[in-house]
Formats: sequence, structure tokens, C-alpha cells
Amino acid sequence: MKVDVVLGLQWGDEGKGKIVDVLTPKYDVVARFQGGPNAGHSLEFGGNKYVLNTIPSGIFHEHCINIIGNGVVIDPVQLRKEIEKAETTGVDIRKNLYISEKAHVILPTHRLVDAASEAHKGVHKVGSTLRGISPTYQDKIGRSGLRIGDLMGNQFKAKYDSVVSNHVKLLNSLNFEYNLADHEPAFFEAVEYLKSFKIINSEYYINQLIKDGKKVLAEGAQGTLLDIDFGSYPFVTSSNTITGGACSGLGISPQKIDKVYGIFKAYCTRVGNGPFPTEQENETGELLRKLGHEFGATTGRPRRTGWLDLPTLKYAIMLNGVTDLICTKSDVLSGFDQVQLCDSYSINGKVTSELPFNLYDESVQPNYKSFPGWSGDLTKVREYNNLPETFRNYMDYVESQIEVPVSIISVGPDREETIVK
Ligand code: GDP
Ligand code: IMO
Ligand code: MG
Repeated sequence: MKVDVVLGLQWGDEGKGKIVDVLTPKYDVVARFQGGPNAGHSLEFGGNKYVLNTIPSGIFHEHCINIIGNGVVIDPVQLRKEIEKAETTGVDIRKNLYISEKAHVILPTHRLVDAASEAHKGVHKVGSTLRGISPTYQDKIGRSGLRIGDLMGNQFKAKYDSVVSNHVKLLNSLNFEYNLADHEPAFFEAVEYLKSFKIINSEYYINQLIKDGKKVLAEGAQGTLLDIDFGSYPFVTSSNTITGGACSGLGISPQKIDKVYGIFKAYCTRVGNGPFPTEQENETGELLRKLGHEFGATTGRPRRTGWLDLPTLKYAIMLNGVTDLICTKSDVLSGFDQVQLCDSYSINGKVTSELPFNLYDESVQPNYKSFPGWSGDLTKVREYNNLPETFRNYMDYVESQIEVPVSIISVGPDREETIVK
């Protein structure tokens, strides 16, 4: 048995939560491999909406084992809140949630350092989610981080004090005002709370499950254009969001990867700063934001909006080895007279579909192709052939350009609002 991967091909918020929830009935295990509570994965069923940040999106299926992998960074306070909220739905989190002992811990001071360094950057800030993601991954790479397994040892407090003393020096040098006493009690309580969960050596566990013939779905967070290596650096997150991240973030070999489901929205959005070639800072963009309810699931910030961008999509498909494409939010484009997509860039007069070193170079101009729009409520459609012909023409063009089949079309936020082609 092999591992399938689900990940985002744009700047995050492509609908990973919904799609993982839709695919979970076919899997025994869902495992998150990177990111942390910067993610906000929404799921809807039975008339209710749920947002998960760190817990994998298979948690609402009783049969499914959910693993938070070693590549994830965990904020104990945030995770506790998330677990307690999910438990109110009656789901048995304790039974199905497993946490890697090698996942790194987000400390209160990581969040403070995130806020301080963003404030220090001023107009050049990344626009981070302020969840402490970058400082925590910096400590991981800098070999001074604390891991979930450390919470159990009797050296925990000494290690904690040593890491925090470095953060305090940094915060003071940035003249950042804070009061640790506002944050530490909740942190230490959450640490005690988490100790009663299944904290395991997840690389052995997951490889044994694979050996036993269980089907594993690896769930990514963020999107390819926020990848630390291949995203629009430095306006990126601090982990590898691409398929390769599933190997290092779960401890599975590349040979175990089978399908790679790449999710893209029928248009584009981005939260935070950084280049966005097809951004529509106009009435069209406003309309996309309004119809698509484009406000961050984690921070509530308005998302920037724009047309679909094929050069970035092709790049993401190449990097991830996508085998199956999933298009979400197709319903949102209903009602536009004309729908556009960017099928190449002009860079200093030269037409190309390759991404330049600096995507935010002002000389990068998107070249658009226009399609007649469609209208009507797509959310009720369940057969691909019943979708408007103009929509299918748009999708046929996308497929012809990216050379990977689109196997699922999502036409609404609910589980049921899904068309398998
Ligand atoms: P994720 O981070 O990739 O899981 O995506 P988010 O949950 O942050 O953002 C996607 C938003 O779109 C959520 O509010 C979803 O409920 C919603 N959504 C997902 N798929 C569809 C769809 O096909 N149509 C519409 N209208 N909304 C969708
Ligand atoms: P999901 O999993 C959209 C963005 C932030 C910021 C940049 C760096 O829900 O798709 P960070 O807090 O990671 O240091 O912020 O990355 N960002 C996301 N944008 N969806 C996400 O996750 C994101 N996680 C981080 O807005 O621009
Ligand atoms: Mg999201």
C-alpha cells in the first residue's frame, strides 16, 4: 500500500480541508506533514462549518487515524483550544489523534518574536499570521528548538529557560513591549494537558501502518507558492509545502508516494504581502472576494483576489508531480460576463510561461485570455456534463494547457457539493 498526498498549488486556502474530508472515507489514516496553526482548513457538513488549524482534516470520520507529523510545529495552547472545540461535536479526539514526539513546539516567545520582527520590518513585513511559525522553524534549523518529546523529560524546564532567554534578548534588542506572565500560565497548563494524548514515534507508526496495508493520505498546509524554497521568497512560509515535504515531514520514503492530488481554485487568492501577478485591485477583485467569501480562516484578513494564473499552476504541478487535479470554488465564478486567465507572462517584452527569479519584478506582465462567462447556481450540480458549456470550455482549456486531468470539481463548501469527473 502507498501514500497519497493532498496539497495546495497556489498561495494557500485552495480548499484542502474540504477535499481531505471528502477523500477520507477512502483512507485509514490522514497525516499532516508541515506548517502549524498558520493554517486554517475549513470543512462543512450537516449544515455546520468547522475550521482546523493543526488537527488533520480526517478527524470527523470515526474510522480514521489522524497523525500530526514531525514536520508540523505545534502551539500547545492553540492545539488544546482546537481539541476542546472539536470535542463539543461529540467526536472522540483522544481515540484517533496521534502526535509525533519529534514535532517542534511553538513557545509563547516564538509568537512574540514573530510579532516583533514583523513590526520591525515595517512596510516590508511578510504579513505573517503571527502564530510564531518562522521563529519556531528558525530554532528547529538552528538546532535549539524544543520538541513535543521534550515536554515529557525532566530537562524540559531547563531547555525551555535556555531557549526563552535567547528570545528575550532578541525582543529587548527590538524594543518590543511584552509581558511573558500574560502567556506562560496558559502555556504550561496546555503542556500538561497535551501529555495525556498519544505522543508517539510517528515515523515507525506510520511505516508500520503502511506495511499493514493501511491507506494513508498526507495533508499539506499552505500552498506551493508559499514554499520556503520555491515560493515567492521572502514572502513565503517557513516550511516545504511541496510533495517532498510529505517525506521529510512524516518519515516516509519517496517510493511510498503514489497519487498526488493538487488543489487549485478556479481563480487565485493570497493573504499577506508579496507578488501576485494576476491580482485584481478593482471591482472584479472586490466581487471575487465578496462572492467567494475570501476572508482568512485563521486571521479573518481579507484575501487578495485575482484571475487564475497558468504559469504558476504549471510550475506547481511540475514541482509536486501532481497526478490528479482538483478545482475548487468553480461556483464562485458564476455570473461574470467574461472570465479571464493568465496563460503567459511578458517579461521585458519577451513572452514566457516560466517564472522569473523575482516574481515581484514590475516588468512581469500577465497576458490574459478571455472566456465567455456562465451563470446560475452551480452548487446543486452533481454531474460534470450538467455544468454550463461555457464553464466546461474554460476547464477544457485549462486541462489542455496543464496536461494533467482534473478529476474532481468542487462547486460549494459542503462535502456534498462535489463532482467526481
Ligand atoms: P484550505 O486552507 O485550503 O483548507 O482552505 P480554507 O478553508 O482556508 O479556505 C477555503 C474556503 O472556501 C473555505 O471557507 C471553504 O469552506 C470554502 N470552499 C471550499 N471549496 C469550495 C467551493 O468549491 N466553493 C465555495 N463556494 N467555497 C468553497
Ligand atoms: P492554509 O493551510 C494562506 C501566509 C501568510 C503570510 C505567509 C507567512 O490555510 O492554506 P507564516 O505565518 O506562515 O509565517 O506567514 O504565509 N500563510 C497562509 N496563507 N493560507 C495558509 O494556510 C497560510 N499560512 C501562512 O499570510 O503571507
Ligand atoms: Mg486556509
